Amino acid sequence: MTTSLTLTRPDDWHLHLRDGAMLNAVTPETARDFGRAIVMPNLVPPVVTGAQAAAYRDRIRAAIPAGSSFQPLMTLYLTEETDPDDLAQAHADGIVTAAKLYPAGATTNSASGVRDFDKVLPVLERMADIGMPMCVHGEVTDADVDIFDREAVFIDRVLDPIRRRVPDLKVVMEHITTKDGADYAKSAPGKLAATITTHHLIINRNHLLVGGIKPHYYCLPVAKRETHRLALVAAATSGSPCYFLGTDSAPHMDALKENACGCAGVFSATNTMSCLAHVFEAQGALDKLEGFTSLFGPQFYGLRPNADQITLIKDGAVEYPAKLTVGDETVTLFDPGFDLKWRVA
Ligand code: NCD
Ligand code: ZN
Repeated sequence: MTTSLTLTRPDDWHLHLRDGAMLNAVTPETARDFGRAIVMPNLVPPVVTGAQAAAYRDRIRAAIPAGSSFQPLMTLYLTEETDPDDLAQAHADGIVTAAKLYPAGATTNSASGVRDFDKVLPVLERMADIGMPMCVHGEVTDADVDIFDREAVFIDRVLDPIRRRVPDLKVVMEHITTKDGADYAKSAPGKLAATITTHHLIINRNHLLVGGIKPHYYCLPVAKRETHRLALVAAATSGSPCYFLGTDSAPHMDALKENACGCAGVFSATNTMSCLAHVFEAQGALDKLEGFTSLFGPQFYGLRPNADQITLIKDGAVEYPAKLTVGDETVTLFDPGFDLKWRVA
């Protein structure tokens, strides 16, 4: 029985750190285990220029605990007004790593997102030219499309047409939740990849809705039926380099989640590696964990894996605080619904 597992230090290829007191509270939770993270730009107002990304990176750096080598990788929030020259300059200067495409209204703080995808084609063409990946929130927002179908419809109506028009664009399908997403993500190795969250490997829509609504399991894209969760587990544990970890750890204050109109987002930064070791072990796939958390992300982004390692140890029950305190408020940590046994040494 494996009781210890040493891995190249993992990265998180999709993370929300927020700003202000929240930023200061959650950054150490990621910096503890992870070497790098792709930081989402959906602040209010969003991070749309290179100068704003540089300023946000400075605020993040100030929140990293002393002695940590954690590195935030910044993203720009694409709008219909994004200036291709500013974006290309920020990429050339090493300020930003990728740009994020949000369909307007698809998720938390996405009001400034894109309505008419034709309007961003010149920016996407520029990104293809300079080798800058696009991270995409893959859900349509049309009122007539059922929320559980929005990912599959996005692939057909938006993503595939964009990729036909800009075939050299590198695309990361963020936080896929369906078998459709997993199937599409493997159709163009090296050009197309997908991140998978910790929680979508663990919960399906029954966890969210059966026996009372569970606001801390509500996120976007919303968890789907069990067949889709099983497809995600199969993808993550397959050893295929087109799937890698993006936790989408997305903290919200409890008062805003436990609310008549609760916010979308699951906070999983603190216990992600424990949860993933459990999921991969249950599949008999602990040997595939390092690829998913530490190797395939850098490979897709054209970066080196982290030079150092972490060790996971299984030596009895692991307890995490149920809540993180942020000022006078709290943020609830993702509860996988089973006892965790693996911890990061
Ligand atoms: C994210 C957030 O809170 O910023 N919420 C979520 O449910 N995942 C936004 C996002 O990634 O969709
Ligand atoms: Zn997200």
